Amino acid sequence: MDLMQDIIARAKANKQRIVLPEGTEERTLKAADRLIADEVADIILIGNPDEINRLANDFGLVHIPKATIIDPKNHAKKEAYTELLYQLRQKKGMTLEKAAVIVEDPLYLGCLIIKAGDGDGEIAGALNTTGDVLRPALQIIKTAPGISSVSGAFLMFVKNKSYGENGILVFADCAVIPNPTASELAQIAVATAKTTQDIVGVEPRVAMLSFSTKGSASHEMIDKVVEATRLAKAMDPALKIDGEMQTDAALVPAIGARKAPNSEIAGKANVLVFPSLEVGNIAYKLVERLGDAEAVGPILQGMAAPVNDLSRGCSVDDIYKMVAIASNQAIGMKAVKKA
Ligand code: ACO
Repeated sequence: MDLMQDIIARAKANKQRIVLPEGTEERTLKAADRLIADEVADIILIGNPDEINRLANDFGLVHIPKATIIDPKNHAKKEAYTELLYQLRQKKGMTLEKAAVIVEDPLYLGCLIIKAGDGDGEIAGALNTTGDVLRPALQIIKTAPGISSVSGAFLMFVKNKSYGENGILVFADCAVIPNPTASELAQIAVATAKTTQDIVGVEPRVAMLSFSTKGSASHEMIDKVVEATRLAKAMDPALKIDGEMQTDAALVPAIGARKAPNSEIAGKANVLVFPSLEVGNIAYKLVERLGDAEAVGPILQGMAAPVNDLSRGCSVDDIYKMVAIASNQAIGMKAVKKA
């Protein structure tokens, strides 16, 4: 998987500060140790320092002492982060008393560290649900300028190299917005195209999927995809995007040529945008399990700083890769800010 090696090399060349709020979780600690040893990122672990050091010792992790360890109950910036949380959420009913309690929650603390400029990205979810990882990020870090909807993409590495970009496809939304409106679906398409460019490094060819190709059926669900395609083109006129389209028409050249003869996407799509979270989440797991593909993600798109969620079934390797991906996202976002 050369792309992953490229992503890791880019992370090493411009080390970012990545927060791991589940600092006492075994797979997280083991991944942190490898990331420090390989000099992929500067690691910030949240958790009780005595417990982290004891676990590191038990697991034989010799590099953990080089991580920055933040005790959520007692650290130099606790008051400053409490004040920051209060300022950010005052209008939503946050009081200083509530903020003083919430600031000790590692998932909120991780986002406050990033918001304060003391970290560049976060990976969590080995212990916590997607909702619990995302909510503080959506409340504190918020969306990037010009974006109002955060969504989640997966890099899919399939065995048959004739699909997508030499066997690499990007799927979205597989993680966040249960039932997107046409406008949200358009944002998902544009954001996924950007993720494809930033992380896979190729020109995106986006297929807006449905159960119909170019008017072969009619239904209000299809109308939403057609409208989303129109809106995405308006948002980014240079974007190569087409829909509505069935999956076979999007992926297989002969079927694409038959069902959508005038499309520049049909048969060559490398980005698949699903009409709802149900479809996206089920599709990526089917391709992963039955198709024996590797799924890397979800990569959250549209946030002002990278916060990526893990599956609770994740491996040490998954955490390692997600840290490298978040580092690449942070590097890309900093470059945009600078420009
Ligand atoms: N983009 C941007 N902002 C958002 C989004 C979004 N997609 N969704 C919510 N927000 C903002 C809201 O505007 C709100 O901001 P505010 O408090 O400043 O006004 C804040 O986030 C909280 O919003 P709520 O609606 O109160 O949060 P909710 O409890 O609905 O949680 C969440 C949002 C967590 C994203 C929810 O939609 C969710 O749970 N989605 C499904 C996640 C999931 O279970 N995925 C499947 C598993 S993942 C996997 O298998 C890989």
